[in-house]
Amino acid sequence: MNRRHLLLSGLGASAALAGQGQAATGDGRSPRSAHAAGFLWGSAGAAYQIEGGNVASDLWVMEHVQPTIFRERSGDAADTYNRVEEDVALAASLGFNAHRFSIEWARIEPEPGQISLAAIAYYRKVFESIRRHGMTPVVTLHHFTSPRWFAAAGGFEVREGIDPFVRYVEIVSKHLGDLFGPVVTFNEPNLGGLLSWGALTTQLRPIIQASRQAAARAVNAEHFAPLVLGDFRLQTPIIIEAHERAREVIRRETGGRVPVGLSLAVNDERAGGPDARIEAKLEDALLPWLRAEGDFVGVQNYTYSLVGADKDLPNPDGVELTQMNYPFAPEALEGAVRLVAKYWNKPIYVTENGVATEDDARRVAFIDRAVPGVFACMRDGIDVRGYIHWSLLDNWEWFAGFGPKFGLVSVDRTTFQRTPKPSAAHLGRIARAGLPRDLRS
Ligand code: BGC
Repeated sequence: MNRRHLLLSGLGASAALAGQGQAATGDGRSPRSAHAAGFLWGSAGAAYQIEGGNVASDLWVMEHVQPTIFRERSGDAADTYNRVEEDVALAASLGFNAHRFSIEWARIEPEPGQISLAAIAYYRKVFESIRRHGMTPVVTLHHFTSPRWFAAAGGFEVREGIDPFVRYVEIVSKHLGDLFGPVVTFNEPNLGGLLSWGALTTQLRPIIQASRQAAARAVNAEHFAPLVLGDFRLQTPIIIEAHERAREVIRRETGGRVPVGLSLAVNDERAGGPDARIEAKLEDALLPWLRAEGDFVGVQNYTYSLVGADKDLPNPDGVELTQMNYPFAPEALEGAVRLVAKYWNKPIYVTENGVATEDDARRVAFIDRAVPGVFACMRDGIDVRGYIHWSLLDNWEWFAGFGPKFGLVSVDRTTFQRTPKPSAAHLGRIARAGLPRDLRS
């Protein structure tokens, strides 16, 4: 089982930035020395996993039908919707200069064309709070979830999905673009391609299909197509076009002030044997996305895979596994960044990296072994501009529910009280110290 099986492993159980505008030159590039001072250090979260009560989103429907692939319902999640000021203040107090979060499209547009000004005002408050605390907001416009009406209309499996997404992006850009930092249009739209090399996707196909049909019945639609449970071959060209059009809109609305990119799930792809077809896997899981227009790529890495002829190989015996059931492999981050840099010569941000563990000492060790890999890449001239850890909070880990603990901060499941773990102060100290001296100029 590789890292991405992990995302599905819960299934197994249940069946230039704004504020640092100098970094965004016309093509999104600048010499390393020009942005070293603005290297972003931060932690991340995604609306659906932390806000709670995202009842108008497609996955809310998928959580409430039978059969479902979700081990637990998201419910109140971490109640961030009511505690966002506290969370932003906490992240800033740790020493971070950036904060990654996402906007929930279904809150902005709960029904087609019906725009919630209150939701826009809420996200304005989030941006303002991040900026007031001296951090650069890294905003994701689509982090796995869409409005339920959008999934019912075929989602990104049909070309008709492009226009509604671009309209949503135009609305948030008009209302909030003045506060944008780097913008991630889509989070890990390549995940389906990556997962297709694991055995679990094939095993789970019947239950995924059955739950999609149950969701379609629940909303009186012919089909129901959430991005994360969709057909990646259908979706890939459609999402790439949606991303490229969204990028044009954001550039127009912000005067080209902010860089716009995709964040991608990137495993360190290692040959599992002499018949490994790494290029074939990359063609499914990575390369089409690196050919898309963009000012940066967000690398999101959690482990490595051992690639075989047409599937990944199982975990080797005896390796330490995380709560996600993939190998504990902090050094994989360096491999993932180098892999992307082979095909991409514009800026890279590490937009996610982390480990699911109950043992926070392992998280500290993970950070200590992952971060130097980023520095090593930079020493070799790779233009890495930030390290954002997943996640600020323990949260709702999709199919795996609340079990896996990715947070620097724990969240009490009944009082929602936040308690920073030692790893939070640890990464904060690294962030405050900043880049090693040799990388500062
Ligand atoms: C996603 C996050 C997820 C994390 C850990 C990434 O796939 O962007 O939403 O929680 O990995 O599995």
